[in-house]
Amino acid sequence: MNRPIAISLSPNTDSKDVARAWSVLFSRSLRENTDILSEVAHLISKKFDNRFVVLNSSGRQALYDLLRAYDIGLGDEVIIQAFTCIAVPEPILWVGAKPVYADTAKDAYSIDVQNVLKKITPNTKAIIVQHTFGIPGPIEEIVSMAKEKNIIVIEDCAHAFGAELNNRALGTFADASIISFGRDKCLSSVYGGACVVKNREQMEKLRAFHNQRKQPPFMWTAQQLLHPILFSYIIPSYFTFGIGKVLLVLFQRAQLLSRAVELRERSGRKPLHIEYQYAPALAQLLVLQLGKIDAMNARRKYIADRYAQELFGSKAVLPAVSQNTQPSWLRFPVLVKNQKQVMFMAREKNILLGDWYDSALVPKGSNLIEFQYSLGSCSVAEKTAEQVINLPTYPSLTDTQVSEIIALIKTYAS
Ligand SMILES: Cc1ncc(COP(=O)(O)O)c(C=O)c1O
Repeated sequence: MNRPIAISLSPNTDSKDVARAWSVLFSRSLRENTDILSEVAHLISKKFDNRFVVLNSSGRQALYDLLRAYDIGLGDEVIIQAFTCIAVPEPILWVGAKPVYADTAKDAYSIDVQNVLKKITPNTKAIIVQHTFGIPGPIEEIVSMAKEKNIIVIEDCAHAFGAELNNRALGTFADASIISFGRDKCLSSVYGGACVVKNREQMEKLRAFHNQRKQPPFMWTAQQLLHPILFSYIIPSYFTFGIGKVLLVLFQRAQLLSRAVELRERSGRKPLHIEYQYAPALAQLLVLQLGKIDAMNARRKYIADRYAQELFGSKAVLPAVSQNTQPSWLRFPVLVKNQKQVMFMAREKNILLGDWYDSALVPKGSNLIEFQYSLGSCSVAEKTAEQVINLPTYPSLTDTQVSEIIALIKTYAS
């Protein structure tokens, strides 16, 4: 039986990942083998020419460390885009700096260069360029503009592992970048991330920050290892009398499953894992994913190409991608005027599409005052949030399922 179409339910886990999670859960030697950390860092660094890689327990921890490595703190401003997750402004606030939101470009999902220029002040220390959905943002323009003004540029490659611009890996254009191995990223170990830097001194600072942390307690690690395992029961039964849905809620309530963003983060408090090192147990999951990343990304590209070709001429607005780019297509975004209706019709047909990002700053309901975002300040991003739908590209999606999604969009998008 095929897995049902569900964009966010442990999307790149297959039976081998589940088997690995079981064996790590029950093997102390695998969980405590720290050699795996340098192996994983080495494998990742091969994707980023002449860069150093320092592992972290999440993408937001990586961003937190990078900002500290650049001595960004009280009184400093960091420009980020609206149409993002609180995971991006969080670390800026943790170091005592101010997140300044720039709007996104029209019909695009990344930062608008002209709007960035308007937001620069003498206090601007850094600009974060987010390659949303793995589609390259205007990194070359921002890097050359920032150089003149002595502003640091950080690439947010949380969605973009394996993406390229002009045959060069995203993550190698700016001073530094971050990646994420979160549960629904291109490469996943449930929690995890890394800083990618070109400067040895920065790398040493980042290592020192990370070494000061403690290993996560067993219970936390076990909770993450249970993620692929429990989802292997939740997914097949998700639409069978709603059994999977009930299991998901029960497992979350019983704290057997973690959340990608903890509830306390919505009001600006730090998540637990910020105090932890990247666990060797999670690196055991990541090494397996690294072995198949090229195949997974090739499948994502194949699926995205089908959407682009077969939805061309439909009512859905397709993402504009210039010829010299090779997105990683974590998800394939389209804009429709009747977002809620299309999402509803999809659910009626047991298809779970994605809602990144259904507001300028997600999760919806986060304390916008805490995150210093004023509603109405980034009108393009807010409009995009009202119209966007994400189509899945995860590797196990079958060709027939892709056809079903295309038919759904053609029928219902207006
Ligand atoms: C655009 C973006 N940047 C950074 C992050 C942070 O990654 P992590 O969840 O690993 O902390 C996320 C997380 O979803 C994200 O969507």
